[in-house]
Amino acid sequence: MTDVTGPITAGASASGCPAHANATPLSGLEYQQTPAELYRDLRRQHGAVAPVLLDGGVPAWLVLGYPEVTYVTANDELFARDSRRWNQWEKIPADWPLMPFVGHQPSVLFTEGAEHRRRAGVITEALEGVDQFELARECAYLADQLIDVFAGSGRAELMTAYTHPVAMRAAVHMVGMPSGTTDTEELVEDLRMSLDAAEGDDPVAAYIRVGERIARLVEEKRARPGADVTSRMLNHPAGLTDEEIVQDLISVIAAAQQPTANWICNTLRLLLTDERFALNVSGGRLSVGQALNEVLWLDTPTQNFIGRWATRDTQLGGRQIQAGDCLVLGLAAANTDPQIWPDSQVGAENAAHLSFSNGEHRCPYPAPLLADVIARTTVETLLERLPDLVLAVDPGELTWRPSIWMRGLTTLPVRFTPVVG
Ligand code: HEM
Repeated sequence: MTDVTGPITAGASASGCPAHANATPLSGLEYQQTPAELYRDLRRQHGAVAPVLLDGGVPAWLVLGYPEVTYVTANDELFARDSRRWNQWEKIPADWPLMPFVGHQPSVLFTEGAEHRRRAGVITEALEGVDQFELARECAYLADQLIDVFAGSGRAELMTAYTHPVAMRAAVHMVGMPSGTTDTEELVEDLRMSLDAAEGDDPVAAYIRVGERIARLVEEKRARPGADVTSRMLNHPAGLTDEEIVQDLISVIAAAQQPTANWICNTLRLLLTDERFALNVSGGRLSVGQALNEVLWLDTPTQNFIGRWATRDTQLGGRQIQAGDCLVLGLAAANTDPQIWPDSQVGAENAAHLSFSNGEHRCPYPAPLLADVIARTTVETLLERLPDLVLAVDPGELTWRPSIWMRGLTTLPVRFTPVVG
């Protein structure tokens, strides 16, 4: 799945730092249902930058403060994105669980400086060409098709039957795969397996098939361009190679799918469990925009993002950071930083949260707008079609996926009056 080509910089390690003697492991189960408590405790104990241990006891820094995350992401020459800079590679086994996110890949995600501007510029312009009205119409169509499958039964588990598939199909549609064909359905299933493998899946084989299918898509669009992201990337004057375009298309689809699906899920949970968003056709629909925004402040899918790597020795939040140290962006913690919410009333009408990150590598400008179109349409279509939708379990029985990185529910069971015909 990854092409780990080894360190390009060796340096002193975070483990050599005395602060890591009392570092907090991020991989245990203790805080996974209640990450806000983790952030509060870490902040109390360590301040804005906390020493933490990743899976297998590998040391890193979790940046918890809003000003500190903003500073790190705005200074991409000092806190860079190429993971080969890490001073811990000799401790990392090939099957390390975080390798799919940290192992270097030749995609836009790990490029730096002028090369990043070239690659990200192409993606930005290709995404800018997406017609938001057409995307909304397509999402409503995709949502309707998925709802048709369970509408007659009066019950559904929305994570597998709705939020994940609609986000995946919307992403695949944007890159120019036609809806509803067997070929597209196979790609959607392979993407699901490689991004979110279930028991018995082979994510590596699925990822190889995804690469092959996207490479074919690039060939097809070179021969017959259309009004889609792939064709616009191919026609861009920056002249990316086909291999670069394949890598970046996979990054776009993966970057779009998981966060958008979980954004939809976390918004539905809020609408279904919080009486301020009482769910009926009029009340519910009026509140969807507020619920989507509140989730980005308080329950963002992108809780923590790995990461950035220090290019030289420096200081951050009173900590001594050494060249090659890894910094995890604590986006959720930063959103709830007491420094920006002194009266503890977190949440605002504005979009100054860090859920889309910040700086050179932030979620590229039109993507948050497109994600909003997808999420809003998906939530509204469900509420319109099934206006008496309620949770099928007690809210206290809902559980979060055991991940410190991506916040979403394990399942979202609902019931409603069956729709006949
Ligand atoms: C249509 C949906 C979306 C698309 C096409 C998309 C695309 C992308 C791409 C291409 C990147 C890589 C940027 C780079 O390295 O230069 C990225 C990064 C990112 N995106 Fe998105 N995204 C989408 C939705 C979302 C959503 C819903 C969230 C969170 C609520 C999100 C949060 C992020 C974050 C945190 C990063 C990492 C930025 C960093 O390294 O600092 N994205 N996205």
